[in-house]
Amino acid sequence: MITDWKSHLISALHLEHTVAAVKEKNVPHHRSSIWYYFGGLALMFFTIQVVTGVMLLFYYQPTAELAHKSIERIMTQVPFGWLIRSVHSWSANALMAMIFIHMFSAFLMKSYRAPRSIMWLTGIILLLLMMGFGFTGYLLPWDQTAYFATKIGTEVPKALPWLGDIISSLIKGAKDVNGTTLTRMFALHVGVLPIISILLVLVHVTLILLLGSGVPPVAKVTGATKYFPDYLLKEVMVWLIGFGLLIAIAVLYPWELGKAYDLANPTEPPAGVHPEWYFMFLFQTLKVIPEWLAIFGFGILLIFWTLVPFLDRKANGGERSPIFTYFGVVAILYLCVMTAWAYIAVGDERAQTPTEKIQQVPKQGGDSAK
Ligand code: HEM
Repeated sequence: MITDWKSHLISALHLEHTVAAVKEKNVPHHRSSIWYYFGGLALMFFTIQVVTGVMLLFYYQPTAELAHKSIERIMTQVPFGWLIRSVHSWSANALMAMIFIHMFSAFLMKSYRAPRSIMWLTGIILLLLMMGFGFTGYLLPWDQTAYFATKIGTEVPKALPWLGDIISSLIKGAKDVNGTTLTRMFALHVGVLPIISILLVLVHVTLILLLGSGVPPVAKVTGATKYFPDYLLKEVMVWLIGFGLLIAIAVLYPWELGKAYDLANPTEPPAGVHPEWYFMFLFQTLKVIPEWLAIFGFGILLIFWTLVPFLDRKANGGERSPIFTYFGVVAILYLCVMTAWAYIAVGDERAQTPTEKIQQVPKQGGDSAK
């Protein structure tokens, strides 16, 4: 009876092929197989984001007047609201960390090679979508750091010739960051980005079930674990550890809320305003080279990074192609060095400007806060 019901559902959803692939799938053992867990961890944190995000939506109010107050209410009056908000914020950071580890391990293991090139392409779009979540979500609490970091972020496209100004005002919806910008960020964060991302995550995960895990060309395969149920059970154990750590951190270090930004009473930016850690390498690069050069440079690097499966000429030959490996190592070093440098610079800036010195500026002086 139950089998009947299951097979009807599978055929109604046209999942026969996927179910057969899952039953046949094996996960190979080799020196680097531990890295296979990181895609699964990204999937878990992504799911947590969707669930906790929907919960926050019941109480969050996306207007410049109410956004900060509604988050204060979530944190002080809504039962367990502080925990859900803390989990959402910490899990967003964990998700980004997992995605970076997952992407670079897939790169160094050469998992982007055919037939998984399509997984690499969908992965790149997911990376950009997740960064989009980070950027749009940062403004939602409407505190001082959020306001000024978004102000800096939305100014960046202006360095581009011709289209720069248009792109910047399209993101902001106004000449300067205000309530309209918040509405736009909110619409993107809870509407546009989730719909595209959920679909793409489903495609990405179905593809790995159909195509199977890639094996690095130099790895010696010593065996394999059946995916269902053996490997899946191991994955669930890793997820439980990740989930436990996340809850512990969210409880021990509840996510903070800065002072509200008041549009009617503009202030100078607090010292050392900066974006989230995963944008810090960009932030520091923009500080040390001309903005237009940074934008073009990163644009070209992104195109190169996306096309790696097609540029790696030994794609089917099973050889090492060390140039790509070196490129990956240099990219990791660049991200680490620039991020560390950015935090040191922010620390210096804060040390030089005590927070008490933040000045109130007259109403008309809103633009001087740039
Ligand atoms: C929300 C973001 C993402 C989720 C939820 C996700 C999830 C997964 C999962 C569950 C797997 C199978 C397990 C594994 O091999 O690790 C996988 C494999 C893979 N992913 Fe992702 N991924 C994401 C982002 C990315 C990004 C940013 C890239 C690279 C640009 C990427 C490229 C790949 C590749 C090439 C594979 C095949 C790995 C192999 O065969 O060894 N993914 N992903």
